[in-house]
Parts: sequence; C-alpha cells; structure tokens
Amino acid sequence: MKGAIVQCLGDLVKSNFGNDKWEQSLETAGMSKTAFFMPLQNVDDEKVIHIIESLCKVAKISQTQAADAFGDYWVNVYAPKLYSSYFKGANTSKELLLKMDSVHDNVTKNIQNAHPPRFDYEWKDSRTMIMRYKSNRGLIDILMGLVKGVGKYYKEDLKVTKLSNDKLQVIFPN
Ligand code: HEM
Repeated sequence: MKGAIVQCLGDLVKSNFGNDKWEQSLETAGMSKTAFFMPLQNVDDEKVIHIIESLCKVAKISQTQAADAFGDYWVNVYAPKLYSSYFKGANTSKELLLKMDSVHDNVTKNIQNAHPPRFDYEWKDSRTMIMRYKSNRGLIDILMGLVKGVGKYYKEDLKVTKLSNDKLQVIFPN
C-alpha cells in the first residue's frame, strides 16, 4: 500500500495520542521506531495491517474505532492538504463518493505496484446508494470510516451500514 496511508496514520496517532504511542506502535509491529514513510513509497500490505493492529493495542482502541479515526483524519485533515484537487467540483458527499472510483484509478495510474480499490454504485432509490467495494485487501471497515468522514466533511448526516464484506449502504439526507 502507498506510504501516504501510513504517513496519514502516523500524523493521526502523533497528534491524538502523542509521539511515543506512534513509536511504540512501530516497535510492537517489529519496525524501527524512527521508520519514516513517504507518500509514494510502497509499504507491504502486511506491514500496514500489523501497524494498525499494534496501534490498537498501544492506544487501547478497537479496530472499528481505529478505522473511524483513520477515515475521519484522511478525509478531513490529510487529503485536503495533499490531494485538494480531488475535492474540487464535488459539492456534496454524494458527488465526492461517486468520483472515488475514477479518483483511485487516476491517482495510482502512473504508480508501479499500486492496487487501488475500485467501487461501483447502485441505487435502491434516489437517496439510498449501495457502494460495492472491489479490493482483495478486505478493508471494508476502513471504507466505512472514510465514508463517514466524507459525511462530516460536507456536514451531512449520512446513514452508513455494512451489508457484507464488499457492500455498504449509504443513505443521503437528500
Ligand atoms: C479524496 C482523495 C483521495 C485520494 C487521493 C485517495 C487515494 C488513495 C491511495 C493512493 C490509496 C492507496 C492505494 C494503493 O496503495 O494501492 C488509497 C487507498 C484507499 N482508499 Fe483512497 N483516496 C481518497 C479518498 C478516499 C475516500 C473518500 C474513500 C472512501 C469513500 C477511499 C477509499 C480507500 C480505501 C478503502 C483504501 C484502502 C485500499 C484498499 O482497500 O484496497 N479513499 N486511496
């Protein structure tokens, strides 16, 4: 996975829990506490998962809490700084979420070894969308945290439900 994900995670843990908790998480995951991550570098998926599991132990939070905190931080703090252009032209959560399939395709097009998640969208009615998650990483809880983060970014009250390991239901306010 791209180093951007780990860099964002590190920023979040350092600002919410302190530098030492991040260092402990890296050490618990068997890495150097001074490990440094660049956005475009590749980090083994296993290592990323290991860091997330370690930080749950160190910060005493559940995987779901970690997924929600990550989704919130990525969408509301990290991506607006690093990837602001992708938010342009999307004025509602619905518009941003509908762009996410092509954003992930485009952002990783020229990057070797990237395996971006892809999405497709199905409508049950005008407010109820089924977002299908296509990735073999199995990170639907992180997807759910990200979708909630998008609702917060646009100050919209989204109802997000996990239907299965590859499907989320999102009900928009209008
Ligand atoms: C707005 C700017 C965004 C950018 C530039 C972006 C970019 C990226 C990049 C570069 C990766 C790593 C891919 C890889 O290493 O193969 C990633 C992973 C991921 N992104 Fe985004 N992302 C954005 C927003 C979102 C949003 C809003 C969602 C969900 C609604 C989302 C869902 C995911 C998920 C679930 C992953 C984990 C990888 C996987 O499950 O396979 N992203 N994203």
